[in-house]
Amino acid sequence: MNHQLIQDLENTIQNIPDFPKPGIQFKDITPIFLNPKLYEQVIADLANFSRGKIDAVCGIESRGYLFGIAIAVALDVPFILIRKQGKLPPPFVSQKYDLEYGSAEIEMRTGQLQKGQRILIHDDLLATGGTTEAAANLVQKQGGIVSQFSFLIGLKDLEGENRLKKFNAEVHQILT
Ligand code: PRP
Ligand code: MG
Repeated sequence: MNHQLIQDLENTIQNIPDFPKPGIQFKDITPIFLNPKLYEQVIADLANFSRGKIDAVCGIESRGYLFGIAIAVALDVPFILIRKQGKLPPPFVSQKYDLEYGSAEIEMRTGQLQKGQRILIHDDLLATGGTTEAAANLVQKQGGIVSQFSFLIGLKDLEGENRLKKFNAEVHQILT
């Protein structure tokens, strides 16, 4: 565990109460990008977790792209975009998942993930785990092995981690 990095991130990420809805505390990660040295340290930490263990990174739109591409470049492996519905041209595979009210869908181009590849699924935040679980289903649908999950932040009280247990993959969260 990198205590200095945890401390620096805690001092940088801003907690915004009652956004986007009353009772929700929003984690604003944008100040990280004002500090390139800190950003580099975040990427180094995330890359260390995955080094030698994965063949490709799947990042979830949109905040999962902010760190996911840099992890892939640092490890010299491909980066595959998981997008929200309606953004990708065919052919693609899609996966529905439940939201608090209603449902959503995420999509991935077919032919980018190779069967048997060990995949890191990366996103900035693990809350209920619904988004990440759907991403993992998408990876499995294409014959990928869900090997690892990584996040900047995991919200412990929302049980996201429990939801990911069935994938038997390693999980890394810099901040919980
Ligand atoms: C946020 C966050 C994660 C997801 C976590 O994304 O970036 O992707 O929610 O929530 P869950 O664990 O309950 O599924 P959001 O859908 O707000 O969109 P954005 O990344 O495009 O800002
Ligand atoms: Mg997101």
